[in-house]
Amino acid sequence: MLSLLEKLSAEVGKTFSSLGLPAELGSVRASDRPDLCQFQCNGAMAAAKQAKKNPREIAQSVVEALSGNEIFSKIEIAGPGFINLDVTDEFLSAHLAEGISFPQIGNGETVIVDYGGANIAKSMHVGHLRAAVIGEAVKRSLNAAGYKALGDVHMGDWGTHLGMLIADYVRKGEENLVLNTDPDNPDAVASLMEDMAARYPKASAACKEDEALMKEAQETTVKLQNKEAPYYPIWEKIFATSVRGLKKTYADLNVFFEIWKGEACVHDLIAPMVEEMKQKGFTEESDGALIVPLAEDSDKKEMPPLILYKRDGGVMYGTTDLATLVDRMTENKPSKVIYVVDQRQSLHFEQVFRAAYKTGIVPDNVELTHAGFGTMNGTDGKPFKTRAGGVMKLEDLIAMAVDKATQRLIDAHLAEDMNANEKAEVARKVAVAAIKFADLQNARQADYVFDLDRLTSFEGKTGPYLLYQAVRIKSLLRKAKEQGIHVPEESNIIIEDESRELALLLTELPEMFALSIKTYAPHHLCEYVYRLASSFSSFYGNCPILPEKDETLRQSRLALAHMTLAQIEQVLDLLAIDIPDRM
Ligand code: ARG
Repeated sequence: MLSLLEKLSAEVGKTFSSLGLPAELGSVRASDRPDLCQFQCNGAMAAAKQAKKNPREIAQSVVEALSGNEIFSKIEIAGPGFINLDVTDEFLSAHLAEGISFPQIGNGETVIVDYGGANIAKSMHVGHLRAAVIGEAVKRSLNAAGYKALGDVHMGDWGTHLGMLIADYVRKGEENLVLNTDPDNPDAVASLMEDMAARYPKASAACKEDEALMKEAQETTVKLQNKEAPYYPIWEKIFATSVRGLKKTYADLNVFFEIWKGEACVHDLIAPMVEEMKQKGFTEESDGALIVPLAEDSDKKEMPPLILYKRDGGVMYGTTDLATLVDRMTENKPSKVIYVVDQRQSLHFEQVFRAAYKTGIVPDNVELTHAGFGTMNGTDGKPFKTRAGGVMKLEDLIAMAVDKATQRLIDAHLAEDMNANEKAEVARKVAVAAIKFADLQNARQADYVFDLDRLTSFEGKTGPYLLYQAVRIKSLLRKAKEQGIHVPEESNIIIEDESRELALLLTELPEMFALSIKTYAPHHLCEYVYRLASSFSSFYGNCPILPEKDETLRQSRLALAHMTLAQIEQVLDLLAIDIPDRM
């Protein structure tokens, strides 16, 4: 199905061709000056350059050839040779009646999106929030575009932090706290998660102060990685419990992974991988460490080698990421792997990608992308912290937002007729929408300020505003049904002066969606859905729907409301934001 812009470009392209000009120069886009026209084509300027002619003359011949075309209600030349266009209301209405859908860009190929990165046994912090929120949106968008996208949580579950924690349990004779935990019992899971979250920072601080403890932790890590008892069985329980705990925290944010693997599960792939690299001559010894040199003559900045084994034989972060690629290439055979990880890890990913291509772990036709993101700052402009200056835990952040959302609902006299459970559910949805939309609306790489007051407001470019507008449309459609008015799902929408802008906007979805897929940038979808909600709000303000006496008009406006809601729902679903039924 062609988008509106594709149809217009085809039409104007044909005209360019008929004049002996390249068809692609007939490409049409949304107008930069919506006050003057709906669409514009700038191809006459480029065509004039090629043909060494006057651009206005070329524009004039295009306009003449287009005149009489029943798609356009206005065809004008502006400035040095812009062609300004409006479409007829009939054409717009017929286009909407075909239905608007997501362009299918993927071909069923598998894409892995790596966007978890939570470290088991440690509490999740706000740094993991951005990965989860952006990654889920990227994954859902890819699926909607026809890819088979798989989310991998890629837990940090194998490093020294586990050695420290397990050594602490064993030294204190408290390993039964772990071993007796039933991962199927949510209370037991919560209690062990709490114990670990409190224990780990203390154990880690103790190791930093006491060399003997650090040595013990390192030895424990080695024994764990050799799968020795009692360390490995303790780890297995910690792992099983953490997976349950993490699933819950992620689910609270509407984030769901298809693959629940971590660093541990590729441990056994490391030795054979390194052996093969050695045999193929990709490795070198340097200062007792084993490295893969990565520098190339064309490099403009220094490119350090990737360290496979440290001098003490320990493996590095990069080694594990390479082994994970070995696993993914054999198990999933993806055509792309996208890492939604903090921008500050960009050098790490450059190294891993280079090493993966160079050693043939990943063939050149597979795309590896680091979709990095900026930092979430507090209102003081510094990385977000608790009042006491500590790292803010994700659960605490969500709880704070729920409190705020509850108050906002009271202030706005919303959800007043609901029982306590329903109110709590709505407050949770408002809070999650607030947090997620505040995050997603920023360009991925940009830092942003987390301002709870602003982002929970029902006014402005916020999650709660969008939910409120969507719920308003839902309640309008419900009322129509209650009054026995049939809501047409697809009908001829009559374009009115008050609804033209909204109708045009509805046709933009395919382009906005494609842009957000191409750049792994959900903020384009945020911008779009916000414009959609605002545009509907002004239309609804100017055009009463249910009281309209003219039945054809009323039906048309209801159909437009229905279509707007469907698009808001579709886009918010891509962003993994839930809409309540009532509010
Ligand atoms: N666990 C890491 C952290 O907390 C993030 C992992 C990101 N993913 C990856 N494949 N390296 O910083």
